[in-house]
Amino acid sequence: MSFLSPYGPSSFTPDDGLDLFFSPELIPDQVKKQLPGDLHIRPLASSDYHRGHLAVLSVLTVVTDPGEDAWVEQFRTMRATSGTYYPIVIVDKASDKVVGVGCVFMERKFLRGLGIVGHIEDIAVDKGQQGKKLGLRIIQVLTHISEQAGCYKTILNCSDANIPFYEKCGFIKKENEMAKYA
Ligand code: ACO
Repeated sequence: MSFLSPYGPSSFTPDDGLDLFFSPELIPDQVKKQLPGDLHIRPLASSDYHRGHLAVLSVLTVVTDPGEDAWVEQFRTMRATSGTYYPIVIVDKASDKVVGVGCVFMERKFLRGLGIVGHIEDIAVDKGQQGKKLGLRIIQVLTHISEQAGCYKTILNCSDANIPFYEKCGFIKKENEMAKYA
Protein backbone atom coordinates (compact mmCIF):
# COMPACT_ATOMS: atom_id res chain seq x y z
CA MET A 1 0.00 0.00 0.00
CA SER A 2 1.30 3.48 -0.85
CA PHE A 3 0.77 6.61 1.20
CA LEU A 4 2.27 8.87 -1.46
CA SER A 5 0.29 11.86 -2.62
CA PRO A 6 -1.17 11.48 -6.12
CA TYR A 7 -0.20 15.10 -6.70
CA GLY A 8 3.57 14.60 -6.33
CA PRO A 9 5.90 17.20 -4.78
CA SER A 10 4.39 20.64 -4.32
CA SER A 11 5.43 23.99 -2.92
CA PHE A 12 5.40 24.78 0.79
CA THR A 13 2.03 26.02 2.11
CA PRO A 14 2.27 28.59 4.92
CA ASP A 15 0.05 28.30 7.99
CA ASP A 16 -2.41 30.98 6.85
CA GLY A 17 -3.17 28.95 3.71
CA LEU A 18 -4.19 25.87 5.69
CA ASP A 19 -7.21 24.60 7.66
CA LEU A 20 -5.35 23.88 10.92
CA PHE A 21 -6.45 21.71 13.85
CA PHE A 22 -5.73 24.46 16.41
CA SER A 23 -4.14 27.90 16.56
CA PRO A 24 -0.45 27.88 15.51
CA GLU A 25 0.14 30.52 18.20
CA LEU A 26 0.20 27.69 20.75
CA ILE A 27 3.52 26.54 19.26
CA PRO A 28 6.33 28.41 21.07
CA ASP A 29 8.63 30.58 18.95
CA GLN A 30 11.58 29.38 20.99
CA VAL A 31 11.15 25.83 19.63
CA LYS A 32 10.43 27.04 16.08
CA LYS A 33 13.73 28.97 16.09
CA GLN A 34 15.69 25.84 17.02
CA LEU A 35 14.43 23.84 14.02
CA PRO A 36 16.66 23.60 10.92
CA GLY A 37 15.66 26.37 8.47
CA ASP A 38 14.36 23.90 5.87
CA LEU A 39 11.71 22.59 8.28
CA HIS A 40 8.52 24.04 9.78
CA ILE A 41 6.50 22.90 12.82
CA ARG A 42 2.75 23.53 12.97
CA PRO A 43 -0.62 22.02 13.95
CA LEU A 44 -1.93 19.18 11.76
CA ALA A 45 -3.87 20.49 8.73
CA SER A 46 -6.96 18.96 7.12
CA SER A 47 -4.96 18.52 3.88
CA ASP A 48 -2.01 16.68 5.49
CA TYR A 49 -3.34 13.35 4.21
CA HIS A 50 -1.68 14.42 0.94
CA ARG A 51 1.56 15.43 2.66
CA GLY A 52 2.37 11.92 3.85
CA HIS A 53 0.98 12.07 7.42
CA LEU A 54 0.21 8.32 7.41
CA ALA A 55 3.58 7.42 5.89
CA VAL A 56 5.37 9.02 8.84
CA LEU A 57 3.06 7.32 11.35
CA SER A 58 3.92 3.99 9.71
CA VAL A 59 7.47 4.44 11.07
CA LEU A 60 5.87 3.84 14.49
CA THR A 61 3.43 1.01 13.85
CA VAL A 62 1.10 -0.67 11.38
CA VAL A 63 -1.00 1.96 9.60
CA THR A 64 -4.03 1.11 7.48
CA ASP A 65 -4.90 3.82 4.97
CA PRO A 66 -8.62 4.62 5.49
CA GLY A 67 -8.74 6.82 2.37
CA GLU A 68 -8.84 10.61 2.29
CA ASP A 69 -12.56 11.05 3.08
CA ALA A 70 -12.38 8.92 6.24
CA TRP A 71 -9.10 10.59 7.27
CA VAL A 72 -10.67 14.05 6.97
CA GLU A 73 -13.78 12.87 8.83
CA GLN A 74 -11.53 11.66 11.69
CA PHE A 75 -9.72 15.03 11.65
CA ARG A 76 -13.04 16.87 11.98
CA THR A 77 -14.45 14.53 14.65
CA MET A 78 -11.32 14.95 16.78
CA ARG A 79 -11.23 18.72 16.27
CA ALA A 80 -14.91 19.00 17.30
CA THR A 81 -13.90 17.81 20.80
CA SER A 82 -12.48 21.29 21.31
CA GLY A 83 -9.49 21.63 23.64
CA THR A 84 -8.87 17.88 23.79
CA TYR A 85 -6.45 16.89 20.99
CA TYR A 86 -3.36 18.81 19.85
CA PRO A 87 -1.76 16.98 16.89
CA ILE A 88 1.34 18.59 15.38
CA VAL A 89 3.56 17.94 12.37
CA ILE A 90 6.99 18.95 11.12
CA VAL A 91 6.99 19.70 7.38
CA ASP A 92 9.96 19.71 4.99
CA LYS A 93 9.60 23.01 3.12
CA ALA A 94 11.30 21.80 -0.08
CA SER A 95 8.86 18.94 -0.65
CA ASP A 96 5.91 20.17 1.47
CA LYS A 97 5.91 16.67 3.04
CA VAL A 98 5.34 15.72 6.67
CA VAL A 99 8.54 14.35 8.25
CA GLY A 100 7.54 14.29 11.93
CA VAL A 101 4.32 13.84 13.90
CA GLY A 102 3.06 13.83 17.49
CA CYS A 103 -0.01 14.53 19.58
CA VAL A 104 -0.94 15.45 23.14
CA PHE A 105 -4.50 14.96 24.41
CA MET A 106 -6.08 16.27 27.58
CA GLU A 107 -7.65 13.91 30.10
CA ARG A 108 -9.96 15.84 32.45
CA LYS A 109 -10.25 14.39 35.97
CA PHE A 110 -12.46 14.67 39.06
CA LEU A 111 -9.43 14.34 41.32
CA ARG A 112 -6.57 16.78 41.91
CA GLY A 113 -9.02 19.68 42.04
CA LEU A 114 -10.55 18.75 38.66
CA GLY A 115 -7.03 18.42 37.30
CA ILE A 116 -5.94 17.66 33.73
CA VAL A 117 -3.32 15.14 32.58
CA GLY A 118 -1.59 15.55 29.23
CA HIS A 119 -1.02 12.29 27.33
CA ILE A 120 1.65 12.32 24.64
CA GLU A 121 0.89 9.85 21.85
CA ASP A 122 2.04 8.71 18.42
CA ILE A 123 5.46 10.31 18.10
CA ALA A 124 7.27 9.47 14.87
CA VAL A 125 10.06 10.96 12.76
CA ASP A 126 10.74 9.94 9.16
CA LYS A 127 13.71 7.53 9.09
CA GLY A 128 15.74 9.88 6.87
CA GLN A 129 15.28 12.75 9.36
CA GLN A 130 15.99 10.92 12.62
CA GLY A 131 18.86 12.09 14.81
CA LYS A 132 18.35 15.80 14.01
CA LYS A 133 16.52 16.62 17.26
CA LEU A 134 13.12 16.66 15.55
CA GLY A 135 11.72 14.18 18.08
CA LEU A 136 13.00 16.41 20.87
CA ARG A 137 11.36 19.50 19.31
CA ILE A 138 8.03 17.65 18.95
CA ILE A 139 8.14 16.65 22.64
CA GLN A 140 9.09 20.20 23.67
CA VAL A 141 6.09 21.63 21.81
CA LEU A 142 3.64 19.03 23.15
CA THR A 143 4.89 19.45 26.73
CA HIS A 144 4.56 23.23 26.38
CA ILE A 145 0.96 22.89 25.16
CA SER A 146 0.20 20.48 28.02
CA GLU A 147 1.64 22.83 30.63
CA GLN A 148 -0.07 25.89 29.11
CA ALA A 149 -3.38 23.99 29.35
CA GLY A 150 -2.74 23.59 33.10
CA CYS A 151 -1.90 19.88 33.16
CA TYR A 152 -0.37 18.85 36.49
CA LYS A 153 1.65 16.17 34.66
CA THR A 154 2.45 15.01 31.13
CA ILE A 155 2.83 11.26 30.61
CA LEU A 156 3.44 8.71 27.85
CA ASN A 157 4.05 5.02 27.22
CA CYS A 158 7.10 3.80 25.35
CA SER A 159 9.30 0.77 24.67
CA ASP A 160 12.46 0.16 26.71
CA ALA A 161 14.46 1.13 23.60
CA ASN A 162 12.95 4.62 23.65
CA ILE A 163 13.53 5.30 27.37
CA PRO A 164 16.89 7.06 26.72
CA PHE A 165 15.21 9.34 24.17
CA TYR A 166 12.50 10.40 26.60
CA GLU A 167 15.04 10.85 29.38
CA LYS A 168 16.89 13.25 27.05
CA CYS A 169 13.55 15.08 26.72
CA GLY A 170 13.38 15.46 30.53
CA PHE A 171 10.99 12.62 31.37
CA ILE A 172 11.56 10.07 34.16
CA LYS A 173 10.42 6.44 34.36
CA LYS A 174 7.35 5.99 36.60
CA GLU A 175 5.33 2.83 37.30
CA ASN A 176 4.32 0.31 34.61
CA GLU A 177 2.03 0.06 31.61
CA MET A 178 -0.69 -2.62 31.46
CA ALA A 179 -2.53 -3.54 28.26
CA LYS A 180 -5.39 -5.82 27.24
CA TYR A 181 -5.93 -6.11 23.53
CA ALA A 182 -9.42 -6.85 22.13
N1 ACO B 1 18.31 5.56 22.30
C1 ACO B 1 19.16 6.45 22.89
N2 ACO B 1 19.15 7.78 22.63
C2 ACO B 1 18.26 8.22 21.72
C3 ACO B 1 17.36 7.36 21.05
C4 ACO B 1 17.40 5.98 21.39
N3 ACO B 1 16.54 5.10 20.84
N4 ACO B 1 16.61 8.10 20.20
C5 ACO B 1 17.04 9.38 20.33
N5 ACO B 1 18.02 9.45 21.25
C6 ACO B 1 18.74 10.64 21.73
C7 ACO B 1 19.49 11.33 20.62
O1 ACO B 1 20.77 10.76 20.44
C8 ACO B 1 19.55 12.76 21.12
O2 ACO B 1 20.55 12.84 22.13
P1 ACO B 1 21.57 14.10 22.21
O3 ACO B 1 20.72 15.27 22.63
O4 ACO B 1 22.55 13.68 23.23
O5 ACO B 1 22.14 14.29 20.85
C9 ACO B 1 18.19 12.93 21.84
O6 ACO B 1 17.77 11.59 22.17
C10 ACO B 1 17.14 13.58 20.95
O7 ACO B 1 16.98 12.76 19.79
P2 ACO B 1 16.26 13.26 18.47
O8 ACO B 1 17.27 13.55 17.41
O9 ACO B 1 15.31 14.35 18.80
O10 ACO B 1 15.46 11.95 18.08
P3 ACO B 1 14.67 11.65 16.72
O11 ACO B 1 14.35 12.90 16.01
O12 ACO B 1 15.43 10.62 15.97
O13 ACO B 1 13.30 11.04 17.26
C11 ACO B 1 12.15 9.03 17.83
C12 ACO B 1 13.29 9.98 18.19
C13 ACO B 1 10.81 9.80 17.82
C14 ACO B 1 12.06 7.94 18.90
C15 ACO B 1 12.43 8.46 16.42
O14 ACO B 1 13.61 7.70 16.47
C16 ACO B 1 11.31 7.59 15.86
O15 ACO B 1 10.43 8.09 15.16
N6 ACO B 1 11.35 6.27 16.15
C17 ACO B 1 10.37 5.32 15.60
C18 ACO B 1 8.97 5.55 16.17
C19 ACO B 1 8.97 5.54 17.68
O16 ACO B 1 9.52 4.67 18.33
N7 ACO B 1 8.28 6.56 18.27
C20 ACO B 1 8.13 6.75 19.72
C21 ACO B 1 7.01 5.90 20.20
S1 ACO B 1 6.54 6.24 21.91
C22 ACO B 1 5.23 7.35 21.80
O17 ACO B 1 4.76 7.62 20.76
C23 ACO B 1 4.72 8.00 23.06
